[in-house]
Amino acid sequence: MPKWLDNAVFYEIYPQSFYDANGDGIGDFEGIIQKLDYIKDLGANALWINPCFDSPFKDAGYDVRDYKKAAPRYGTNDDLKRLFSEAHRRGIRVLLDLVPGHTSEEHPWFVESKKAHPNECWNRFIWTDHCFKRARGFGFIGGESDRAATYIVNFFKCQPALNYGFLKPSETWQLPMDHPDCIATREAMKDAMRFWLDAGADGFRVDMAMSLVKNDDQEKSGTAALWRNIRGMLDAEYPEAAIVSEWSYPQIAINAGFHMDFLLDFDENTGGYRSLFRDYALDIENRVVGEDNSYFKKDSKGDITRFLDEYLIHYKSIKKRGFISLVTGNHDVVRMSYTLTPQELALVYAFIFTMPGVPFLYYGDEIGMRYLNLPTKEGGYYRTGARTPMQWTGGKNRGFSTAEPEHLYLPVDNGPDAPTVEALEKDGASLLNTVKALLHLRQTHTDLQAQPNLEILYAEKGKRLFVYRRGSLVIAINPSGAQADTPVSVPGTPLYTIGTCALEGGVCKMGAQSFGVWKV
Ligand code: NOJ
Repeated sequence: MPKWLDNAVFYEIYPQSFYDANGDGIGDFEGIIQKLDYIKDLGANALWINPCFDSPFKDAGYDVRDYKKAAPRYGTNDDLKRLFSEAHRRGIRVLLDLVPGHTSEEHPWFVESKKAHPNECWNRFIWTDHCFKRARGFGFIGGESDRAATYIVNFFKCQPALNYGFLKPSETWQLPMDHPDCIATREAMKDAMRFWLDAGADGFRVDMAMSLVKNDDQEKSGTAALWRNIRGMLDAEYPEAAIVSEWSYPQIAINAGFHMDFLLDFDENTGGYRSLFRDYALDIENRVVGEDNSYFKKDSKGDITRFLDEYLIHYKSIKKRGFISLVTGNHDVVRMSYTLTPQELALVYAFIFTMPGVPFLYYGDEIGMRYLNLPTKEGGYYRTGARTPMQWTGGKNRGFSTAEPEHLYLPVDNGPDAPTVEALEKDGASLLNTVKALLHLRQTHTDLQAQPNLEILYAEKGKRLFVYRRGSLVIAINPSGAQADTPVSVPGTPLYTIGTCALEGGVCKMGAQSFGVWKV
């Protein structure tokens, strides 16, 4: 387990939209380099950069055309290497985004695989054996190739699934996992990983990590075995490298060899995540329909036990073998600020940054950037509105780029009340300064960092208050609009508070929407 994860706090960067240093309207590596001091000052010490490799960008870069080439829109491989070294100079680690489940349909492997006659890439993707064959249980495409067969896709049409084999092949065209061609796919992915680790990357966020072996069982034993093999390579050759999975099932993902696994807003397996912040439904126009019962919504009826019931199963099962990663958001979901007020967000962040595991902050969430209803861009659909340019200043394009507004990758939030780093830095009570204070608190108390030292002191069905302990620190959260008394005693003056926490006889009267941390 890489030691640096013990106090890691990640900042996720969607490179298109972070900072445009060369004025062409889209973010770049140089832009990230210029903002490293900002990230360090914020209190984060690690980055996850969304895919920045050569791609036709039909899915914002999750359709990789060349795993070993930086996308020219962001710079060159040398620029990316410079980003690694500039980050390291400041004590910041960098994870790239590995997309092992599929390539772009323009990847040379797929171009070969589509040809009419067998070649060395023939089995790199999953093809049936007939031009009209239905690949039951999978998304598949026909009529696109000279090869007289249909192929399986992993996500969009442009993303053919790489072939790691089937746990239990049920048709002749399905290869077993130990087929040399399936092993060759795994080794090709390791080769891409080694390429970037040798160049200075510190590891990978792994896209759709659970999707590799097909016809897998419920425990995902085929896919898990494959990842354990890859983890073996990392332990032997790059023991400092870290991998975090997009799986949202820590119990399985950590067993599979991942150091961290996200809890996400997936349809199933959210690990309790949804009940905290996203317990609502959106209609086709992104309007909330019905009640929002998220725990952190001031007026909801949600209690913390719905989260704990699921979370603790994962938390207890992974012990010290890995970490759960709670996220403020990411490039795939509507920003939390869409449904939560800045005061509600402050409590969300207070919770995320004082829980065990390795937290991730999505760029712009530190200032409460808004979700915009925008037309789709690069396969983003409703996700596009959570990918708008970072708002640095009150100036042109909010300081994101010097390009003319019509040449920007996406429109910036130009609303008169759009939050910016510049404005929030000056306001001591702003969300940005709250994030800084919380991360500072986490970085100065090892008890608040990744280690699994969580003890639940108070959580009750139907009640809003939550009190927990991390080593020598007691933490209380009251997300509701009504005062709540802590049923457990808390000592003296709090180290940090949001809202009011008034002590009376060892019991704390937690004001509406409040948070406190005490040292015992
Ligand atoms: C998950 C990524 O986060 C998302 O943005 C992408 O569209 C799909 N995987 C497909 O790679």
